[in-house]
Amino acid sequence: MKMTVGVGLLGCGTVGANVADRLHREREVIERRSGVRYEVRAVAIRDLAKARPESLDRRLFTRDARAIVDDPNVDLVIELVGGTTDAAELVERALDRARHVVTANKDLLATQGPRLMALAASRGSALRFEGAVAGAIPVVRTLGEALAGDEILSVAGVINGTCTSILSAMEQGSTFADALARAQQLGYAEADPSNDVSGTDAAHKLALVAQLAFDLGVISPRIARTGIVRVTQRDVARARMLGLRIRLVAATLRTSEGILAEVAPALVREGHDFAATSGAENVLHVRARDAGALVLRGAGAGGPATASAVLGDVVTVLRTLADRRDLPARGRAHALAPAFAVGPFFEGNARMAELPEYPVWEESAGIVRGRALVKA
Ligand code: HSE
Repeated sequence: MKMTVGVGLLGCGTVGANVADRLHREREVIERRSGVRYEVRAVAIRDLAKARPESLDRRLFTRDARAIVDDPNVDLVIELVGGTTDAAELVERALDRARHVVTANKDLLATQGPRLMALAASRGSALRFEGAVAGAIPVVRTLGEALAGDEILSVAGVINGTCTSILSAMEQGSTFADALARAQQLGYAEADPSNDVSGTDAAHKLALVAQLAFDLGVISPRIARTGIVRVTQRDVARARMLGLRIRLVAATLRTSEGILAEVAPALVREGHDFAATSGAENVLHVRARDAGALVLRGAGAGGPATASAVLGDVVTVLRTLADRRDLPARGRAHALAPAFAVGPFFEGNARMAELPEYPVWEESAGIVRGRALVKA
């Protein structure tokens, strides 16, 4: 071991507390896997009186997150504050000071990602965010690294656990309100669950997916979304009678003219992967030119699952530092093209007379339309 990496943790909520606890308890294995020693220098929290995991040294707690970012002994900042106000300033400040940043903040990256990635690239810093999309499922690595030598054609999936929990509970007779309350109790829902039920959380994740898959500076406000607030028990029951289920589907496809991207509740055949989701489970179908069809499935929300993704990123940054290599030059961050068209994905999908509000999910529909656009 050649050096000690200073780590600063911003936020100690559902995910942050899990990360902090594991950085403490699993130090030996994390250091062995990373090849470098690390020291958690400070943990920024909002409320000093709130209960925290017992493993955490209370002397590390501070309310001054900026001081952590400014501390020259902090090399790696783990941002788990969430939101786009304080977090935006802190991440920008950290990158500006050439700190490496690991975050699970999809709101921030889906709205300001292209700018922050360019800043990270200009400072030679890592900006990793596996925890921002689909919890424990390695979506970011799959799209951004494993398939980096291929050409990704489309990505579609069910990527909001709160909506899936609500829709699957409604299939069992629960009301929307009861099902939402349950998703909140389980820690799946965002602090403001209107982001979940309006489709905004899924649109944020889809923006990140499109950034990674297509190397385009897609930001979430450009993605059309319809939430599940208007889905009724009657709709859910009628769909089931037709051998269908309603799921909030997020889909994106690249065409020669731009991309199609949309989030909407769709009718999915029973037996299809998307219909089989329940609770916080996410599933994504990826189509790539050479790799063909890939399926990613697993825990898309929850403290331990998201902490797993965050810690994977932490180990990756530590390894890079341990190897004393320069961090990978992220030229692609500069290459994200800001100007392109984002069109709605579901416009041409079939509808059923019994439930005309919902597009019918067909795996190939968008792809066929995409080809038509490419030809046009
Ligand atoms: N609110 C999110 C969800 C949490 O329900 O999927 C994970 O991103």
